[in-house]
Amino acid sequence: MASHTDLHRLELSPGSGPEIRQRFIAGMGKATAAVTLVTTDGTAGRFGQTVTAMMSVSADPPTLVIGLFRGAPVADAVRTNQCFAVNILSTEDMSVAQNFAGVTDPSTRYKFGPEWKSLRTGSPILPTAAASFDCHAEQFLVAGSHLLIVGRVVDAQASEAATLIYGARSYGFSSPLPFPL
Ligand SMILES: Cc1cc2nc3c(=O)[nH]c(=O)nc-3n(C[C@H](O)[C@H](O)[C@H](O)COP(=O)(O)O)c2cc1C
Repeated sequence: MASHTDLHRLELSPGSGPEIRQRFIAGMGKATAAVTLVTTDGTAGRFGQTVTAMMSVSADPPTLVIGLFRGAPVADAVRTNQCFAVNILSTEDMSVAQNFAGVTDPSTRYKFGPEWKSLRTGSPILPTAAASFDCHAEQFLVAGSHLLIVGRVVDAQASEAATLIYGARSYGFSSPLPFPL
């Protein structure tokens, strides 16, 4: 019988050249998204990575999906640890986002401080996050360069903090438009 951590593969037809790839990247720059920090801990060790590829899938049961570059150490670690947490970063967490994207000083890269907590799976939870979701990794789908991971949410918490967002190659925060009456 197939185990719940089996790796499935989505066969993608070959790309249609560098031009469409460029247009794809330019268009996706318009897809503003919440900045999250995906973390994991377990036999493969403790890892974290800045990720915008996260979406809610279902509330019954609580389920979400993340997309990780297959070459990233965190992707292998989540497969081995079979768990991960999604921390939706707050506007206070911009330096955390940069650190876990690997764009700051290498000596402080991927540092988990003593203030980090955990919920049920042991995956690191950032106390300043706007929300955190602790997940069992349930399904894995290889799609091109990325690994899609479906997580069953086993615990969740949210604060009053404002969400950090990323779009048009910049960090920001959302501000409501006046509703036209
Ligand atoms: C705002 C932002 C969003 C990102 N979103 C993703 C993502 O959804 N999935 C992913 O695998 N990497 C994402 N990355 C990239 C990783 O965080 C990291 O920068 C990249 O894997 C390079 O790491 P390396 O220097 O270890 O190769 C994002 C980076 C930034 C700054």
